[in-house]
Amino acid sequence: MLVLGIESSCDETGVALVETAATGLPRLAAHALHSQIAMHQAYGGVVPELASRDHIRRVLPLAQAVFDEAGKRLADVDVVAYTRGPGLAGALLVGAGVACALGAALGKPVLGVHHLEGHLLSPFLSADAPEFPFVALLVSGGHTQLMRVDGVGRYEILGETIDDAAGEAFDKSAKLMGLPYPGGPWLAQLAEQGDPTAFKLPRPLLHSGDLDFSFAGLKTAVLTQARKLGDDLQARKADLAASTQAAIIEVLLKKSLAALERTGLQRLVVAGGVGANRVLRTQLNAACARRKVRVHYPELHLCTDNGAMIAMAAAMRLQAGMQQPTEVYAFDVKPR
Ligand code: KG4
Ligand code: ZN
Repeated sequence: MLVLGIESSCDETGVALVETAATGLPRLAAHALHSQIAMHQAYGGVVPELASRDHIRRVLPLAQAVFDEAGKRLADVDVVAYTRGPGLAGALLVGAGVACALGAALGKPVLGVHHLEGHLLSPFLSADAPEFPFVALLVSGGHTQLMRVDGVGRYEILGETIDDAAGEAFDKSAKLMGLPYPGGPWLAQLAEQGDPTAFKLPRPLLHSGDLDFSFAGLKTAVLTQARKLGDDLQARKADLAASTQAAIIEVLLKKSLAALERTGLQRLVVAGGVGANRVLRTQLNAACARRKVRVHYPELHLCTDNGAMIAMAAAMRLQAGMQQPTEVYAFDVKPR
C-alpha cells in the first residue's frame, strides 16, 4: 500500500510517500519539504493568511518532487493522508482540500491524521525505531505532553503543560532577547556560548509531584531579567539564553525521568521540534544511560513538521487496523 501524506498545519509544507510492507514497519519512499520561515521572519511570527497562500503555491510541486524521487505515479497511490489538526485553520484547509481533491480524482480513500500522532510516531521512520510500550515526551511549539504509549492509537496522557508549551517558552524568551523567529534554534545556538548557571530562573512545577508542566512564569522571569539588565542585555545575552535553556531542559528531564519511574517502562521516545535540541538530547541520553533506559528520537531533520510523519502515522494506523480511510471527500479540519 502506497500512502501519500500531506502536512500543512503551520509554516512548513510537507509531502511524502510511505509504503507498507507485508511484515515490518512502513518505509519512507520519498519526502519533500518547504519551510516558510524566511517569509514569516520579517513579521516576527507566522502570518496565517500568508501561510495558507504559500501552502497553495508549494504543495503540488512538492508532490511532483516526491513522485519523481520515488519513481512512482499519482495512480500508484492507495490512500491520501493529510493533517486534520491541530493547526492554523486556513493552512489546514489547504492540505485537506488538496488531499480530498486528489482522492476524489483518483477514486482513492482519504484519511485525516492528528498532527501530534505524526510527531509521536516519527521515530518509527528512523533506523533505530522504538518498540512498544514506551514513555513519550512530546515537545513542540504548541504542545508539551508526557504519554504512555502501548501501541498505535493506545495513548494515555500522563501530564501536560497547563499554559505555554516548551517550544513556546523557547520562542517567546528568544523574542524578548531580540532573536529571529522561530527563536528555539537561535536561542539554543546562542546558549552554546553562555553560562547556564549565570542567572537563577524558576523551574516551574519541578516539585509538583505530578507530571504537568508550566512555562508561562519562566517567560515572565526572563522578561524581568532582561529589563533588569537594560543596556547590559546585549553583553549578557548568551548567559541569559543558556540559563533559560537550562531551566526548560531541567524540567523536561526531571519530569521525563519521573514518568519512566511511575510507569516502570525502560524506553523513552522524544518527539517534536524541541526534540532537536542538542543539550536536551545530551542530558536525556546521559540520565537514561545511567538508568538503562533506551532513548529514541526522530532523525534530526524530521523533528520539526514534515509530511513523512503524517504519511507514516496514517500507514501505521491502517496497518494496525485502527482506522478505515473514507471515500467521503467532504473535508473537515480540527484547528484545536
Ligand atoms: O514540532 P514543531 O515543528 O511544530 C509544532 O508542531 O509546534 O516544533 C517547532 C518548535 C518551535 O517552537 C521551535 O522553536 C522549536 O520547536 N525548536 C527548538 C529547536 N528546534 C526547533 N527548540 C529548541 N532547540 C532547538 N534546537
Ligand atoms: Zn508540529
